[in-house]
Amino acid sequence: MCGIVGYVGRREAAPLLVQGLRRLEYRGYDSFGIATRDKDLLVLKHKGKISDTVFVSNPLPGGLGIGHTRWATHGVPNDVNAHPHVDCTHNIAVVHNGVIENYSELRKQLTARGHHFSSQTDTEVIPHLIEENYEGDLLEAVRRTVAVLHGSYALLAIAQDDDRVIAAREKSPLVLGIGDGEMLAASDMTPLLEHTERVVFLEDGDIASLSADHYEILRAGIPVTRPVEIVDWGVEDVKKGAFEHYMLKEIYEQPQVFYETVRTATDESIVPLFKKVPGVTVVACGTSYHAGLVFKYLLEGMCSIPVRVELASEFKYFTPPIRDLVVAVTQSGETADTLAALRKAKAHNCMTLAVTNVQGSTVTRIADQTIFTRAGPEIGVAATKSFTAQLAVFMQVANLLCDRELDEVLSRGHLAISEVFLMDLGKAVTLCKDAGLIFFVGRGPFYPVALEGALKMKEISYIPAEGYAAGELKHGPFALLTPETPVVAICTPGNTYDVMISNIKEMKARGAPMVGIGEEGDSELEEIVDVFVPLPRSPLAIRILTTSVVFQLLSYYTAKALEREIDKPRNLAKSVTVE
Ligand code: M6R
Repeated sequence: MCGIVGYVGRREAAPLLVQGLRRLEYRGYDSFGIATRDKDLLVLKHKGKISDTVFVSNPLPGGLGIGHTRWATHGVPNDVNAHPHVDCTHNIAVVHNGVIENYSELRKQLTARGHHFSSQTDTEVIPHLIEENYEGDLLEAVRRTVAVLHGSYALLAIAQDDDRVIAAREKSPLVLGIGDGEMLAASDMTPLLEHTERVVFLEDGDIASLSADHYEILRAGIPVTRPVEIVDWGVEDVKKGAFEHYMLKEIYEQPQVFYETVRTATDESIVPLFKKVPGVTVVACGTSYHAGLVFKYLLEGMCSIPVRVELASEFKYFTPPIRDLVVAVTQSGETADTLAALRKAKAHNCMTLAVTNVQGSTVTRIADQTIFTRAGPEIGVAATKSFTAQLAVFMQVANLLCDRELDEVLSRGHLAISEVFLMDLGKAVTLCKDAGLIFFVGRGPFYPVALEGALKMKEISYIPAEGYAAGELKHGPFALLTPETPVVAICTPGNTYDVMISNIKEMKARGAPMVGIGEEGDSELEEIVDVFVPLPRSPLAIRILTTSVVFQLLSYYTAKALEREIDKPRNLAKSVTVE
């Protein structure tokens, strides 16, 4: 969702801000803008995608500034609603992520006191409030302002007659970059990597003042110290390299990501966590939810530990009466629904564990314990390597809980993923690309893999796609089966093989073109499907990985054939930081 970046230091701010905004593009946005301080406060903002021509024709001077990519919540995407927003005197500029819940009331009060509003945004109340509170000290004015805000914010403010960037955080991420003669602030680490590896994660309630050589953090007006951490990602990790899309690059990184995550997620101290509780509840959204569903099959099947998997957006409002270990799964560590669910679990005195990909993210501060996935920064909006990394964590947890019975299998996972890259999915893509609807079906752990396959397909190709447990199709969706409705079915050895073969025949009999993902040499399956995708013979855990990667590639090449904007699908944001 929105991204913010701020800079103060020895260099010109504008080019750094623009570069920073480009790094934040992956979060999703519909407009952008920057403000710098020179002789005057200069603001440039536009609807649409960041374009160099805008900045080349209007180079904004100044060594201090703030920038923003906006994902519209209050007010349509247009030039006026884009950030930064300014006060009546054009002395103060603000960028903001989050939602000011009491903005309507504040706006009425400010209007009654003579303030003039230009935009429809909730954010615009902030510069006007700062204007009222400003008596020559921007830090103090921001402190007084945030005291009346309800809701979530990561905000940056600058003033024409102040040398500092002021940053404030409440329920929306904000990280400082500590440079040499320069300071930065951003909504996540990606814009900072080019400039420094030293970062400070702000906590809710923190207000920071940044000047070129110094930063200070206050909480309730009192200076506090936050640890300076060294980022374990490098700038190369956020570059696309020779790949056409980040998504493809990230798919190809999966062997390494799986290997690294399995290698590092070996802390046996988590074992007692799982043994002390009556059961495990996973809370997550989207792809992370699907990974949680796979975890359920692993933990129940291998370790006889009962697992429930809840959509975080539901769990918060309909919290079940549990005493479980609650596991929050979130790539970004910032998904609002997942954080809210985790807070709710804590309020119910449940023990909590986070599985996340992002150092310093909010989820790591809420959960009692954290296991990190080692996916590196994921820039493509469609989750790929983060899903595989989550599977790696869950497989390793099941392995640790079951006397390491998966050790040998896990040591081969990365090789098996690499083999998928050699497969030819051309015929399957041809069958899918003109479809009006595609079903993905599987049973057992392949049911969540099918859900994830459908999610990938719909989000990047825009073809409607449904994931189903194969047995459910005849309870309604069969009505939709036609020669224009391909079904992609996972049918590999195991106790559901025979019933899957029957299901495939039933679907075929209703005219649906069938893509069968099965084990190589399976002539029975090959004969009944239209397109057969053979996987090397392998144990169940490996097949979960390989089928997932097949679906990622199938979606990717289908979307490419349709010339979709693969890395930034319409209307989507990488990290959903509002409920
Ligand atoms: O950062 P999170 O894992 O909490 O994100 C949850 C979902 O928004 C995310 O998995 C989303 O479904 C994927 N990007 C879709 O590919």
